[in-house]
Amino acid sequence: MTERIVLAYSGGLDTSVAIGWIGEATGAEVIAVAVDVGQGGESLETIRQRALGCGAVEAYVADARDEFANEYAMPTLKANALYQGHYPLVSAISRPVIVKHLVKAAREFGATTVAHGCTGKGNDQVRFEVGIQTLGPDLKCIAPVRDLALTRDKAIAFAEEKGLPIETTKKNPYSIDQNVWGRAVETGYLEDIWNAPTKDIYDYTATPEFPPAPDEVTISFQAGVPVAIDGVKVTPLQAIQELNRRAGAQGVGRIDVVEDRLVGIKSREIYEAPGAMALITAHKHLEDITIEREQARFKATVGQRWSELVYDGQWFSPLKRSLDAFIEDTQQYVSGDIRMVLHGGQAVVNGRRSETSLYDFDLATYDTGDTFDQSMARGFIELWGMSSKVASGRDLRVAGE
Ligand code: ARG
Repeated sequence: MTERIVLAYSGGLDTSVAIGWIGEATGAEVIAVAVDVGQGGESLETIRQRALGCGAVEAYVADARDEFANEYAMPTLKANALYQGHYPLVSAISRPVIVKHLVKAAREFGATTVAHGCTGKGNDQVRFEVGIQTLGPDLKCIAPVRDLALTRDKAIAFAEEKGLPIETTKKNPYSIDQNVWGRAVETGYLEDIWNAPTKDIYDYTATPEFPPAPDEVTISFQAGVPVAIDGVKVTPLQAIQELNRRAGAQGVGRIDVVEDRLVGIKSREIYEAPGAMALITAHKHLEDITIEREQARFKATVGQRWSELVYDGQWFSPLKRSLDAFIEDTQQYVSGDIRMVLHGGQAVVNGRRSETSLYDFDLATYDTGDTFDQSMARGFIELWGMSSKVASGRDLRVAGE
């Protein structure tokens, strides 16, 4: 029987050429797998037809937008995940959901190998292959760009020679990856890290020439998940989409960073994540009133570690799963409303309310009705400073000897 390979297929030039390229190099049949994670653009049907037109024996397409929003974006939100304090893990969280579908397709079509279009320099190859190893340990991996010398120039020549139904002339100097959680842009002019991004780089966010009026929005959460916007019920996917639109129009969520890749390279990325950044900001502010202090402090550390694991391709790892359980436990009371103003590239919270809040007006107030007994503070401070005071006494004694 002819060997079969499932290929993570985007519909673009490189993976379209990869279908025939892999076929010629290995003699295997190629099954194209296209997963909709909210990247927009062409319909799945158009992509399916192109895959078949480029020589795929089968095409597997999946609308995974809700799955991605519910099972990947929401855990990222609950973790307030920002890799290196900046990056909301846009590409990093899409790889595991694509991996799930690749493995499913491999089983359905009897494939022995999984292929993807990543280079040998980035994080995504690691995320794909570590995911495949974990969910389908019997499956082999191949990356035509990395393993079969499929360069850009060769791809264009191949497409023209074979008359593949794909445009080869459209030149985009950037490498772009996008989904409903955000958009990542790298390479080209941006590789000089002193160069400021030009306007044409952005797509999810506007640079308003005439800034629109400030947009005030109320986001309601239930156990850490957005459930309504301005009182209208939404699914997680709808919440992200709606805030991509409204926060995007105000230029919220633009990120320009040099980040540490897993392979040891520092690289410049421009991200746009208006919905994700507005949601994370709102969610964090709701946590500030609903999560107890020590739990909140520890959760910040857990969220950071979670972000590193996910960035590093460890989505399916035991530690990531354990941290998920901790984070999930902290979300029990993260319910209520956050009001924020979207304007001038910022999402600024200006009101919060919750039935499960720990904010106690009577304890906090400086007005009449204060229930806090200030006389307790003196003794508390005395004991709180005791160990430092004892140590400093020792330091003075030793210095004087
Ligand atoms: N550096 C980011 C990451 O590793 C984004 C990579 C996405 N790819 C791209 N072609 N921009 O998660």
